[in-house]
Amino acid sequence: MQVLSHVTDELTDLIRSATRVAVLSGAGISAESGVPTFREAQTGLWEQFSAEDLATSDAFHFAPALVWTWYRWRQSLILQVEPNPGHTALARWQQGLRAAGGDLSIATQNVDDLHERAGAHVLAHLHGSIFDHRCAECGEPAELPVPGYDGFAAPPEPEDPPTCTACGALVRPGVVWFGEMLPMEAFDAASAAVRSADVVVVAGTSGIVQPAASLPLLALERGTPLIEINPVESDISDAMDYCLRGPSGTMLPALADAAL
Ligand code: APR
Repeated sequence: MQVLSHVTDELTDLIRSATRVAVLSGAGISAESGVPTFREAQTGLWEQFSAEDLATSDAFHFAPALVWTWYRWRQSLILQVEPNPGHTALARWQQGLRAAGGDLSIATQNVDDLHERAGAHVLAHLHGSIFDHRCAECGEPAELPVPGYDGFAAPPEPEDPPTCTACGALVRPGVVWFGEMLPMEAFDAASAAVRSADVVVVAGTSGIVQPAASLPLLALERGTPLIEINPVESDISDAMDYCLRGPSGTMLPALADAAL
């Protein structure tokens, strides 16, 4: 494993020869847009709760207003921020490879829409989308207006979730919570993309949360080179061939420049 502070000539050669690139992104790639990662301290009222405490069906069962409002507040925050140079570099790289007959696929653990707003196509949202809602009992999708909270202001007072128009049960966020199955179609698509890639880039994930953290390891079966982008060592750094130690807003544009 090479730990690097910049894109070296060797890495440039590797990236330039790759026509099929699989990118696995996590919360770190949205951090420079102003979306807090999951394992950073929460603010205000939310200081007492970790993401793990809020992102479970048990939490929703026992404190639906608290969990519901946390997600609506997070939606507001995401709507108030913009994609950063990491997102736009991936979109540029994807468009460049596609124009040349190759492909760059993105599978993300992020429930935000910043890859899409940067102009990229996302193959798989492994943990769903924060902008989807569905009935907690019958699964009926629910369309809701954009929330009116200020995502940068003090957390709002918890408000009850709406009820399902079909069965009257509570509507829940359409994200994947701890202990829940990932959408199989998304996981299978991401697995296939990693297995058929010439190079795999893992950007902004702690590598803690399974099964998403196991995806990069599929590259080991074929000896596909793995590149990590993270300012610090992660739980999966040991499996990497190259660790670019820096923010994705700097390292992804450098990789895209090397590739195109
Ligand atoms: N550039 C790249 N990486 C960064 C940056 C940055 N600017 N800033 C922080 N990071 C790294 C952190 O060092 C950390 O390793 O991003 C990672 C974020 O880790 P997590 O918060 O654990 O996010 P993620 O790995 O996406 O979490 C997985 O956990 O709570 C669940 O469902 C939620 O999808 C989420 C999942």
